[in-house]
Amino acid sequence: MWFFSAAAFLLLLALSAPAEAGKCPTGCSCDGSKLTVTCVGKNLTEIPPTIDEITLKLDLRNNNLQVLSRGAFILTPYLTHLNLQRCSINKVKEGAFRTLGRLVSLNLAYNKIDILYQESFDGLSSLKELHLDHNRVEEIQPGAFTQLGFLNMLALTHNQLVYIPNMAFQGLHNIKWLRLSHNSLNNLAPEAFAGLFTLRRLSLDHNELQFFPTQTMTRLPEVTRLDMSHNPMTYLGEESVSVAKLTHLYLDHMSLQDLSDQALSRAPLLSHLDLGHNQLRYLEPLSGPKELASLNLTGNPVYCNCFMRPLRVWAGVRGVKLLGACAGPPHLSDEPLQAVAPLDLRCRSRGETLKDEFEKDDESTGSLSPTDKPKQKVKCPVNCDCDIESQHATCEGRGHTKAPRGFSSKTQLLDLRSNHFHDLPANSFPGTGQVVSLHLEFCKIHGIEGGAFRGMKKLFYLYLSDNDLTSLDPGAFAGAPELTYLHLEGNRLVQFPGSALALLPSLFVLHLERNAISKLEPASLLSSVAPNLRELYLTNNTITAIAKGALDSALLGTLHLDSNQLTEVPTRALSEAPNLEEINLSHNSIRWVGPNAFKPISQSLKRLYMDQMGMEKMSRDALAGLGPGLRALTVRGNQLEELPDLSPLTGLEVVDLQDNPLMCDCPLLPLRRWMENVSLEVTATCGHPPEIRGQKVRDVNVFTSCPESRSPPDEKVVAASRPPKVKKPKTSLLKTPRVKARPAKPKAKLLKPNKNKPQRKPGAPKVTKNKTL
Ligand SMILES: *[C@@H]1O[C@H](CO)[C@@H](O)[C@H](O)[C@H]1NC(C)=O
Ligand SMILES: *[C@@H]1O[C@H](CO)[C@@H](O)[C@H](O)[C@H]1NC(C)=O
Ligand SMILES: *[C@@H]1O[C@H](CO)[C@@H](O)[C@H](O)[C@H]1NC(C)=O
Ligand SMILES: *[C@@H]1O[C@H](CO)[C@@H](O)[C@H](O)[C@H]1NC(C)=O
Ligand SMILES: *[C@@H]1O[C@H](CO)[C@@H](O)[C@H](O)[C@H]1NC(C)=O
Repeated sequence: MWFFSAAAFLLLLALSAPAEAGKCPTGCSCDGSKLTVTCVGKNLTEIPPTIDEITLKLDLRNNNLQVLSRGAFILTPYLTHLNLQRCSINKVKEGAFRTLGRLVSLNLAYNKIDILYQESFDGLSSLKELHLDHNRVEEIQPGAFTQLGFLNMLALTHNQLVYIPNMAFQGLHNIKWLRLSHNSLNNLAPEAFAGLFTLRRLSLDHNELQFFPTQTMTRLPEVTRLDMSHNPMTYLGEESVSVAKLTHLYLDHMSLQDLSDQALSRAPLLSHLDLGHNQLRYLEPLSGPKELASLNLTGNPVYCNCFMRPLRVWAGVRGVKLLGACAGPPHLSDEPLQAVAPLDLRCRSRGETLKDEFEKDDESTGSLSPTDKPKQKVKCPVNCDCDIESQHATCEGRGHTKAPRGFSSKTQLLDLRSNHFHDLPANSFPGTGQVVSLHLEFCKIHGIEGGAFRGMKKLFYLYLSDNDLTSLDPGAFAGAPELTYLHLEGNRLVQFPGSALALLPSLFVLHLERNAISKLEPASLLSSVAPNLRELYLTNNTITAIAKGALDSALLGTLHLDSNQLTEVPTRALSEAPNLEEINLSHNSIRWVGPNAFKPISQSLKRLYMDQMGMEKMSRDALAGLGPGLRALTVRGNQLEELPDLSPLTGLEVVDLQDNPLMCDCPLLPLRRWMENVSLEVTATCGHPPEIRGQKVRDVNVFTSCPESRSPPDEKVVAASRPPKVKKPKTSLLKTPRVKARPAKPKAKLLKPNKNKPQRKPGAPKVTKNKTL
């Protein structure tokens, strides 16, 4: 009621006394129609008493008011905008604004205010913006903002705050953006931001925070943007950033030397992370954020060797854009991280030369001199090289017939590849409790006795690739409970080694490519033998069938079944892997993909590869259920004449339809339309009818005569939902000129480096479990 009558009153006044210049204070200019009064730069020491009561906007910038006393604006109760910038104000007394219940914007920037008193802002019940930047605020008294229930933005930048006490911002029930940049904050009380349930954005850059204020930040349920740049933090530990809805995090221009791979594990929605201009030499794949789109490492001394490989692979697989460049080694320096192939991220394999991978600027400073400290003597078996600094030992290809013994107990990487062990008896590696990475590739191993690795409490990476294993003793991995990455590719295993895996609770990535596994049976039950498995590589086995139950796994994300002998999509088995994101079925012989083939995993699936399968038909509903979540789809080199509707797949970033003899006729019109619609480069070629064979779908004009109908004719539905009749394989698969495809995504295969645990010195990465890939 009051509101309406006051508004009517205002309107009345405005109409009845238009532009009555009489009441304009001397030295000010007044606009009666807009109800504004401007008295800028007049060295006024008090608020002119003759300002018209109905004024809405009052601009008093650049004056000399010094103190705002109680009821200072009692004569202008209708103000909506008040500008008091640069007025040499040093004190705002309690109740100074008490009468300004309609004020929306108050600017007190560039003054000399040092304390915000309990009732300084009382009465400002409509205020939306409060500018207090560029003052000398060093103290916020409890309850200073309690009456600002409508405030959206509070700027306290460029002040002298050192500490924020508990409940400092109590009462800001509608705050969206709180700006605390450019202070000297080195401490935030745990409940400093309590009650800010609506805050979306928080700026804390250019302060003196040495640690991420983890607990304080958990009080911010709605914050999506957090700017912490320009604070002197050196390390971010596990679960440091615990902000449930955070999407943008700025941690640039700090002093970060290290970042736990779990630092962001409590920021699941993070999409943009800026780590620019820190001192990071390495970074591990980050656990937690599922949808990270960009990771900015610009201006860090990133050393591009094998330690960076997991990050590079992870970024490729996850589609994370990596910004920044290599700082070394010399042959890669200035190379953009995104452009370096994972395989080029290498560490030299010989122990004796590994060390210089860790020396900074070794070749550029020219400081190599005869006074460089001589190599220390190290405990090392004959026919091996051991390096104390990197704690690496290698006996690669030295003709050992038994695992050598007598390494320093601090050894972290043990490289024994290309020897002739034949059999690994129990306790083959005594005294190697610190070894993280063990290489046993090409060692002609055909048997591993139970307990062979006993005592290897820290073993994380085990390479048994390219040996002669036909089966595994159930106790083979006893005593190595941390094993996380296991390479068994290139052996002769005929069965999934389920029982041996049951001793590896941490197993995360399992490589079984190039073995002789022909069936996956329910006995392999992933959920019981490898409950944490995320990636399973079964490329190039002889798998013909996957029983229901064999893939039962809550966490499995990547499954490579390419180059096997499957004749159908194993839909039933897949239905038990509800988090599968990537599946490779290329190089099987799956001629027909029926309706709903991927329906059970349609919510999680992001990448689907079905190249070179001899596929002749896909049901119109083959991709049913898949939608914007699918990022990559390939069906290259099949015999497809038609394709299902791809238009629901609005999130595709990679699509490959090449080398299919498409029937360029009206039913293909939806595809053609879709191709014109998407920003991707899509190459598809006509195989029929003969007169346009070899031309690109994009270029042919057969579609111009098609009826504009959007849905394909019904006959096609019928035809497509039945398996094709057996017909002779097409003899001539067209060779068409290849148009340069989009740059292929890096292979999703994990190429694990000789990961090891270097001495913890500045810049060297910590080895922690990486459960993120
Ligand atoms: C402003 O006023 C103060 C005191 O009232 C006076 O000392 C100063 O000289 C004035 N400055 C200007 C530029 O008029
Ligand atoms: C990456 O970080 C640098 C330095 O922090 C910054 O200048 C640049 O704008 C950032 N790039 C993107 C795309 O965020
Ligand atoms: C599968 O493995 C065999 C034997 O290791 C190899 O000769 C063949 O090239 C592999 N095939 C593929 C497609 O990788
Ligand atoms: C083309 O794109 C628009 C907007 O993204 C969409 O509404 C329409 O269905 C698309 N058409 C086809 C044929 O995919
Ligand atoms: C899928 O498998 C095929 C055949 O083995 C292989 O060439 C391709 O690189 C694989 N794709 C991915 C992304 O792993």
